[in-house]
Amino acid sequence: MNTQKKVAILLSGGGSNMVKLVESMGPDHPARPVLVMSNDPQAGGLQKAAALGVATDAVDHRPFGKDRAAFEAALIEKLDAVQPDIICLAGFMRILTEGFIRHYEGRMLNIHPSLLPKYKGLHTHARALEAGDTEAGCSVHEVTAELDDGPILGQARVAILPGDTPETLAARVLVEEHKLYPAMLREFATRG
Ligand code: GRF
Repeated sequence: MNTQKKVAILLSGGGSNMVKLVESMGPDHPARPVLVMSNDPQAGGLQKAAALGVATDAVDHRPFGKDRAAFEAALIEKLDAVQPDIICLAGFMRILTEGFIRHYEGRMLNIHPSLLPKYKGLHTHARALEAGDTEAGCSVHEVTAELDDGPILGQARVAILPGDTPETLAARVLVEEHKLYPAMLREFATRG
């Protein structure tokens, strides 16, 4: 019997973090990827996942309008069909309601491009630059009902350099995200 924990990854965009997570889960890893899911059927990350041999699916949020509960019910149905032990949010750009989060409580991780608790929400790099910070970074945390809150599993830091723009800083932080998230997933999957 395969004892590896089953991981589902949720994304909305290009999926570079997803690629690093999937690539990290080799045969000796405590977890394996079973599904990559998006709220955008056109997300570039879905094609990358398929090329890596991982099953993909999407629930387009747009037909649901403001009915987040109905969108999430459709998402849960598809996710639960593969019985995931761990859910990784990797650039998933929909705010999740408490109902969804409670459903996966204790088994959902997120990567956020700031040194939490600083700069929850969007535009993290621009905000760090505006504040005159000397360092920036990223955090992997367990997802709880509060946005970008929940126990922090690990962080990586980068220096802010003279002349940095939100784009140059984001690119440097992303390099660290690609190392931090796989490391934290391995640790989380090894627990319990
Ligand atoms: C990353 O910066 C992640 O921290 C943020 O969204 C971005 C996703 O990038 N939440 P990618 O789709 O993994 O390339």
